[in-house]
Amino acid sequence: HGTSRVNEKGHLEIGGCDVTDLAAEYGTPLYVYDEALIRSKCRAFVDAFRESGFSFQVAYASKAFCTMAMCKLIEEEGLSLDVVSGGELFTALQAGFPVERIHFHGNNKSIEEIEMALDARIGCFVVDNFYELSLLAQLGEERQEKVAVLLRVTPGVEAHTHEYISTGQQDSKFGFDVKSGQALEAIRQANESKWLHLLGVHSHIGSQIFETDGFLVAIKRLVELLEEAKEKFGFISQVLNVGGGFGIRYVEGDTPLAPGDYVKAITAAVRAELSDRQMPLPELWIEPGRSIIGDAGTTLYHIGSQKEIPNVRKYVAVNGGMTDNLRPALYQAQYEAAIANRMNEADTETVSIAGKCCETGDMLIRDIALPRAKAGDILAVSSTGAYGYAMSNNYNRIPRPAVVFVHDGTAELVVKRETFADVVSQDVLPKGSKVLR
Ligand code: LLP
Repeated sequence: HGTSRVNEKGHLEIGGCDVTDLAAEYGTPLYVYDEALIRSKCRAFVDAFRESGFSFQVAYASKAFCTMAMCKLIEEEGLSLDVVSGGELFTALQAGFPVERIHFHGNNKSIEEIEMALDARIGCFVVDNFYELSLLAQLGEERQEKVAVLLRVTPGVEAHTHEYISTGQQDSKFGFDVKSGQALEAIRQANESKWLHLLGVHSHIGSQIFETDGFLVAIKRLVELLEEAKEKFGFISQVLNVGGGFGIRYVEGDTPLAPGDYVKAITAAVRAELSDRQMPLPELWIEPGRSIIGDAGTTLYHIGSQKEIPNVRKYVAVNGGMTDNLRPALYQAQYEAAIANRMNEADTETVSIAGKCCETGDMLIRDIALPRAKAGDILAVSSTGAYGYAMSNNYNRIPRPAVVFVHDGTAELVVKRETFADVVSQDVLPKGSKVLR
């Protein structure tokens, strides 16, 4: 996929860079991002919207992979940015991301985070609950300026995905419930508030979604809600945000649509629902995360120890694991991999890839056919670009890996590898304790 290929040495090459050279130069584990592929995903969403005739914003959901270099790339591609915390907002601001294109999400934004966003004059808040609604109105009044908001609503849609990443159902910690009338009440309050500028409504039904039917049901519910709000309060929505969640291919059998096809289905549905009710077309926003960054990322590891239990399983261990990719342990997520320095070997055996953490569940891949691995080989796990680095952690005090962007035969280091000194940098020894060396 993307710009990856096998070169004459039988090595995996991404963005014109031989990954064995990358591993030698930057060490492993290493996240390698194919910059051309990220840009092509951004453009696929934008181009599909241009063709649709809608006014639009494509807001990259930075939670999937948030670094200053990524914010810069997103800015260059003309996209907007969805942030969900002070840390993501800070990253965007440090990268010089245009503040008016930043949208702030989250179900429990702190007062400090809200103040930080107001100071920065971001584009809008996506309000999650009544507490936040009154807080924003109060802070707007203190500053004597209107705060632009969207209301996140839960339309009661069950997306066909893992329950941990399904968010549109009624019983969810996110958003105003439509069914019980909370969403309508939130619209009334926001619309009446002197200190809020209600732009419209938002819904996000889940993640890694392959079909469009969930989006179509959500759009119908949103439009019905807006119709009621128009009749009851005369509220006309300027913006309709249908969230992200567009799937990608991790393994054989995953059948996502192309970015443009999700957009086509969504724009067609919004147009149909609104024209049925003779309502004007709002600006249409989406928030793709995984589908922009997921398959552009590959993680490189060095293979170390192996353990074979006769007639049971052969474990092949790598020098990373749930610290750099939590998804298999958390969601039983599946991945494909290759031995990157021996891509042309046809003779394979079935093995399971273990991480190095002290945790039985720290398995990256179960039962994969690979050439016979040797210590020192490089394992490349594909499609790790979304929620890999983003959910990385220091379990077992393992330093986080480095990140490189590759394009046209050049590699740029965009996140430095953590050192052991970084790992202990926030530790404080109790006063008076002696350090014996
Ligand atoms: N918008 C909102 C409001 C969201 O909550 C999310 C994801 C997105 C957009 C982006 O969704 P995407 O296009 O990336 O599917 N850690 C999990 C995924 C959690 C997604 C949370 N919200 C994973 O690794 O699968």
